[in-house]
Amino acid sequence: MSESQHSQPDEQLKFLRLHLTNFLSYRSATLDFTDLVALVGPNATGKSNAVAAIKLLREIPYHGLPVAIARRGGFDQLRHRSSGRPYNPAIRLDFRFGDEEESFYELKLRGVEGKRYEVKEERGEVHGADGYVYSFLASDGMLTWSERRNDGTLVENPELQLAIPPGQSAVSVPASYGVFLVSRVLQSMQTVEINPARVGELQDPSSTREFEPDGSNTASVFDTLSPADKSELVDELAAIVPGIDRIEMRRFADKVTLAFYQEIHAGKRREFLAKQMSDGTLRAFSILLAMHQPSRPNLLVIEEPEIAIHLGALRTLVDILQQQSEASQVVITTHSADIIDTLGVDSIRVVWNEGGESRIAAVAEHSREPVRQGLITPGQLLKSDSLDPAAA
Ligand SMILES: Nc1ncnc2c1ncn2[C@@H]1O[C@H](COP(=O)(O)OP(=O)(O)O)[C@@H](O)[C@H]1O
Ligand SMILES: [Mg+2]
Repeated sequence: MSESQHSQPDEQLKFLRLHLTNFLSYRSATLDFTDLVALVGPNATGKSNAVAAIKLLREIPYHGLPVAIARRGGFDQLRHRSSGRPYNPAIRLDFRFGDEEESFYELKLRGVEGKRYEVKEERGEVHGADGYVYSFLASDGMLTWSERRNDGTLVENPELQLAIPPGQSAVSVPASYGVFLVSRVLQSMQTVEINPARVGELQDPSSTREFEPDGSNTASVFDTLSPADKSELVDELAAIVPGIDRIEMRRFADKVTLAFYQEIHAGKRREFLAKQMSDGTLRAFSILLAMHQPSRPNLLVIEEPEIAIHLGALRTLVDILQQQSEASQVVITTHSADIIDTLGVDSIRVVWNEGGESRIAAVAEHSREPVRQGLITPGQLLKSDSLDPAAA
């Protein structure tokens, strides 16, 4: 089968849900995605742990499973513990291409005495936009796969089985098109964790067009944008930080940084280098840049976008995220009543912890009703601790 017959992986990709089993504080929970969802809940209930699952999945195709696990603190940290007993973790991601049937990818790990962990089973079934169904299964270190047409006709079912190196994921062995599609899907989820200091300092020029999650290559990424994208981003930033009317990359010897042109009072413009800009401006700029990056992810995760951003500016930023989320899905974590007032009750996913187990659910009907009647806002519910989750 020639490449040209295959679907374009990123076309019309929508993430549907993430199911976590025995992963960090989760015993069993499902996060349903829409265009934009906000994880809301007290500290240490599990919001960042859900984000950690997304980071782990993304890092599998980039760095391999052993590195992805090591970066989360190692297998023993990762498996759910309650009353001291460690369980075997599993992650399942459901997604969909266009109007095709639902696709999924599932990874199950287990602890092994003497070794740290092994892949217990890995499965995927991708309903491509090209009308083909790509399935694969990896267990006991062997990968098998098949390709069918929608009507069930078998296209390819190689006798061949491929060995997967111990501890590795099948996603690192892109032998079948289904595995390739899954690796593209996983790579198209990105978590943004802006460190304003990294945005402000002189940066090494980077050749990659992909936004570094901490913002450490913002100057280079901005420079690769088309003039139209640059001016859209500048307009968006100007709605948050009034007066900004131009941004450009500047070189200093072997380093690069951004220069922001801002009108400080009538007719008087000044140039500020990134290191002179406020943390809030650098954070807002970086979040907008992540949304505009040339290889834009299909799902962008932003933890606490409210940090260091002024209230009026925050509403504008959230409006922009909401508009952009029609093209790229967005997941945020937040403690901001103003953000959830802007988003509305349907976007909220309540996260709470019950007996050491994290749960996720939409807002309960009895909490929604007074919002619908205009008696209270979601933010007021949050402040009065009455944002109750729907029964799971
Ligand atoms: N392996 C694990 N098993 C059970 N609970 C865990 C595990 N790892 C972390 N936790 C719990 O998760 C909590 C942190 O959750 P986190 O998602 O960071 O909270 P937040 O909602 O503030 O982002 C910790 O306080 C700890 O109780
Ligand atoms: Mg957190």
